[in-house]
Amino acid sequence: MTGSVRHFLDLDQLDAATLRAIINHGLAIKRGAWSGKPLAGKTLALIFEKPSTRTRVSFEVGMRQLGGDVVVLDSPGSQLGRGETVGDTARVLSRYVAAIMIRTDSATKLAELAEFGSVPVINGLTDRSHPCQIMADVMTFEEHLGPIKGRVVAWVGDGNNVATSWIHAAARFEFELRLACPEQLKPAQAVVDWANANGGRVRFVSSPQEAVAGVDCVVTDTWVSMNHQDRSERINLLLPYRVDDALMAGAKPDAVFMHCLPAHRGEEVTDAVIDGPRSVVWDEAENRLHIQKAILIWCLVD
Ligand code: CP
Ligand code: NVA
Repeated sequence: MTGSVRHFLDLDQLDAATLRAIINHGLAIKRGAWSGKPLAGKTLALIFEKPSTRTRVSFEVGMRQLGGDVVVLDSPGSQLGRGETVGDTARVLSRYVAAIMIRTDSATKLAELAEFGSVPVINGLTDRSHPCQIMADVMTFEEHLGPIKGRVVAWVGDGNNVATSWIHAAARFEFELRLACPEQLKPAQAVVDWANANGGRVRFVSSPQEAVAGVDCVVTDTWVSMNHQDRSERINLLLPYRVDDALMAGAKPDAVFMHCLPAHRGEEVTDAVIDGPRSVVWDEAENRLHIQKAILIWCLVD
């Protein structure tokens, strides 16, 4: 059941004003300008079909800080892992909890959960996208560099789920996004076309050096995501896309480096960059907590 239920499924499914309000709320929560226990008496179900550190801990801590509670279902320990349908799981969980977050291998399962449940569903990562992460990343950019509107971000590496949410964000938050990805690992052209048809300025460039030239922010992610099997083939393709000091030197002097984590140090990024003065990766991780509180409040209270 969708109707008036407030799902947080993907950045292309929410309007710019809603996303901006959630970012501003996340910033206010972090500043301590907002407090209270608005989720007292409410429980969030967290379904994990894949591993997680940040998403699990930030949702659990965030929900509790807002006065609510959580129940965690790891796939092997629930009937979902034995083949109970997503639709039936959604109908049952909706009788117990106020909202459901899912990390799954399938965007279809996310959509089915929203279709058959009657409570808000939050996307905690699929093979297609990772919207909560990019909300935290936009918040982090703005903390360090001011409004992201009109600024330039470079994505260097695999055109994966995180890249797709960055593309959605480029349209919704009106920044320019340059992507340098191996031909075989580009994000779907349809996603780029959607962004550019919705006010975005998203384009592929032919090299990491071209992508980072004069940008405000350089972003990368692991070369081998949780849904990937072809590790050695990917690493061979992505070796020229490692973010090191030489590549960062092409960005603006005050440019920041972002990575959603977990990082594979020495693969997509060097120790010198991730531990260096331009890296804001720990702020990104912290901001998952603040932005997810704002997302939960938007889903359940506003
Ligand atoms: N960035 C992120 O989602 O991390 P986890 O896989 O640890 O949740
Ligand atoms: N692209 C990575 C992100 C992990 C948070 C993955 O899907 O494994």
